[in-house]
Amino acid sequence: MSVQATRDDKFSFGLWTVGWQARDPFGDATRPALDPVEAVHKLAEVGAYGITFHDDDLVPFGADAQTRDGIVAGFKKALDETGLIVPMITTNLFTHPVFKDGGFTSNDRSVRRYALRKVLRQMDLGAELGAKTLVLWGGREGAEYDSAKDVQAALDRYREALNLLAQYSEDRGYGFRFAIEPKPNEPRGDILLPTAGHAIAFTQELDRPELFGINPEVGHEQMAGLNFTQGIAQALWHGKLFHIDLNGQHGPKYDQDLVFGHGDLLSAFSLVDLLENGGVDGAPAYDGPRHFDYKPSRTEDFTGVWESAKANIRMYLLLKERAKAFRADPEVQEALAAAKVAELGTPTLNAGETYTDLLADRSAFEDYDADAAGAQGYGFVKLNQLAIEHVLGAR
Ligand code: GCO
Ligand code: MN
Ligand code: MN
Repeated sequence: MSVQATRDDKFSFGLWTVGWQARDPFGDATRPALDPVEAVHKLAEVGAYGITFHDDDLVPFGADAQTRDGIVAGFKKALDETGLIVPMITTNLFTHPVFKDGGFTSNDRSVRRYALRKVLRQMDLGAELGAKTLVLWGGREGAEYDSAKDVQAALDRYREALNLLAQYSEDRGYGFRFAIEPKPNEPRGDILLPTAGHAIAFTQELDRPELFGINPEVGHEQMAGLNFTQGIAQALWHGKLFHIDLNGQHGPKYDQDLVFGHGDLLSAFSLVDLLENGGVDGAPAYDGPRHFDYKPSRTEDFTGVWESAKANIRMYLLLKERAKAFRADPEVQEALAAAKVAELGTPTLNAGETYTDLLADRSAFEDYDADAAGAQGYGFVKLNQLAIEHVLGAR
């Protein structure tokens, strides 16, 4: 099937994804470094509209001002030539040994101050490039040992840091929205704000909660054994889905960062269906970037890197087409009705009904045939079978 990406699809990639040299804890790099300028051109070719990056992905850590200016100028030129935009930026607070006990929540106060300065600097660059979202992935914010980290104090420091970033953005007129990216573990044994739920709750404790949402990643929630699609639905419900990291994962194990849909395919299908059709009257539920945060497997050369980048886009578009076909199928509509899926949208009480009215309603309790209601079948399995048949292209 031919599916073509357009700018309106809002596909974006991290520079660190296609640029990953495939160094892992057991082995050396299997690919040479990728020039960011080439990454911009190649991503534009495969159909992306945006590229995102950590400060150190673009400008090597510790580079002098002249080197930095040269790299940034070359990158900007590539953006101009291709029309690619930078919808999101993020900061590397995990690679350098200085961050081995975290950035914003390191036990060492001087490290925390250094981390803040590093993020402010990246915000200046991001604002210059028109980025609207700052992602905060705190991979090193955590601990291996309960005795070594005062978690309540760490959360105080996390809050202090994020409040400062928001203040800076507002004072400078940058207008950033901040998206916290949860992950349960890796690289730290246990990471703070480990799931979407933890992160959403945390945003409520900040000075400007409306500026803070989340950037959930498929694999991260699945590493925690959670249902990604349902987590996204809750994030949408809270108005907190500010950004999303799409990739593939096979259950609770190390972070695999596979191509989107190459892990739990059925979950990928329900996710795309939710994002594309889960809004009011079947409109898209999310209009931000569809950001791929995956790693081209270590076995691949550059041909494989670009094939895998294309595969992410193709998977998303194929699933979007499958979700449309699923929803349009009259048999599916019948099964949805039989399963009473839409009935859940009806409020449990009548308009203006109080508990006094409910108590007076004999049909709700005294005369209610709970046994008959308990005996009914919902037909959920038939509905799910239809969904799978659409995913398989059997319908
Ligand atoms: C990971 C994370 C990162 C973040 C990135 C953005 O598990 O390594 O997903 O890729 O998304 O650092 O801040
Ligand atoms: Mn990841
Ligand atoms: Mn990610």
